[in-house]
Amino acid sequence: MDESLPADARCDSNDRPAARPISSEERGLLLAAVVGLSDAEREILVKRFYEALREASPRSRRHFDNLDPDRQAAKLGESLRVIAALAGNRQALGSEVIRLGIAHRQRMISEEDYRVFTNVLADALAKLPGPVPAARARAFWREELEAVSALMQIVGDV
Ligand code: HEM
Repeated sequence: MDESLPADARCDSNDRPAARPISSEERGLLLAAVVGLSDAEREILVKRFYEALREASPRSRRHFDNLDPDRQAAKLGESLRVIAALAGNRQALGSEVIRLGIAHRQRMISEEDYRVFTNVLADALAKLPGPVPAARARAFWREELEAVSALMQIVGDV
């Protein structure tokens, strides 16, 4: 794979997730890539995520229609911090995810909304430049986000 290419260009059909599980080194690299994002990089990621969500699901989009885009971007930045921290230390983050589940409870967010959100955000995160192949990064982020979403939904159902 040509590492000199932008991350988007590296996400090609040959870039399939291997059966090999994510190593702790890859995990550390993927988390560090999110934690170390500059404000400008975060903005690009957030923009990419919302554009993709808009295309993927008009139904999910309606949840964000009346929100201020800057506030929304700040919230997603907060989500990324939460997710990176959760991946690094699930136990410590339990209470934060419970808080998030409660915050989302009144919003009538469906299982399908969570599924689309998770997939689209994992795709956006997988496009961050870095040494881990995009398909492996995507698989990692899907798993992490699914864990967060599952707990949020359990809390939301209580
Ligand atoms: C992995 C799943 C998700 C994470 C980690 C997440 C994260 C967050 C965070 C951190 C906030 C800010 C909460 C606060 O005010 O303290 C938030 C708010 C919000 N989330 Fe999520 N979220 C997730 C899934 C979803 C889904 C599936 C939807 C709907 C399609 C959604 C819609 C919203 C909305 C509408 C707000 C309120 C924004 C505002 O009031 O400005 N979220 N989310």
